Amino acid sequence: MKKPVIAIDGYSSTGKSSISKVIADQLGLIHMDTGALYRGVTWYALQHCLDEKGNIDLKALFASLDQIELEFKNNDGTLVLFLNQTDISKEIRSNEVSDHVSVVAKQKEVRDFLLQSQRSLAEKGGVIMDGRDIGTVVLPKADYKFFLTASIDERTNRRFLELKGLGIEADKEQVKQNLIERDKIDSEREIAPLKQADDAIVIDNSTLSKEETIQLMLSYIQKI
Ligand code: DC
Repeated sequence: MKKPVIAIDGYSSTGKSSISKVIADQLGLIHMDTGALYRGVTWYALQHCLDEKGNIDLKALFASLDQIELEFKNNDGTLVLFLNQTDISKEIRSNEVSDHVSVVAKQKEVRDFLLQSQRSLAEKGGVIMDGRDIGTVVLPKADYKFFLTASIDERTNRRFLELKGLGIEADKEQVKQNLIERDKIDSEREIAPLKQADDAIVIDNSTLSKEETIQLMLSYIQKI
């Protein structure tokens, strides 16, 4: 039987990616964290496309998109993102990337560049993809759509702990402001904004553990 296509959208640090990974393992699906792709493009821009003032030169980035090859490789069950053959899985989680990614992600050129690879992965089914516009734009015909949300303080804590786990020093207030700013840019952008699909199941996991969120989602996904 054809395996399902599952779309998970929602606010930053609601656990979308780590939850998707567990569900993918349990149901034998491929997981794609699409935020990592936008982070990968942002990392490239910070390395290669800065103007004299040190800001990202978007025109230079658009002209260089064909130089960017992003690929997920499986490393003991964990998907690791490579940019032009270099592992950038740690770099894409840095504050520097988090501070710039929403501006890069709102550009039509960047979104068009990443759209096809996301869609082609889902063509054969058996995929769980998380992001901001998966249920609305990338995979509008997904079999299951979820939209995750949680309070800003809970999300700040989660992101802070994630950074700490990666050995990245962070200031909690700065983490919170970055989340607020990113959510604002993501929700208000013109192209493919962060919004829940009309047919998405909304889950507020402020008071749910990761495991409880997973169980709730699995209860919605019919036995395959
Ligand atoms: O999920 P994340 O925090 O790693 O996402 C990083 C940024 O990329 C976030 O600010 C929004 C953007 N993004 C997007 O615009 N569309 C997606 N499908 C996934 C992420």
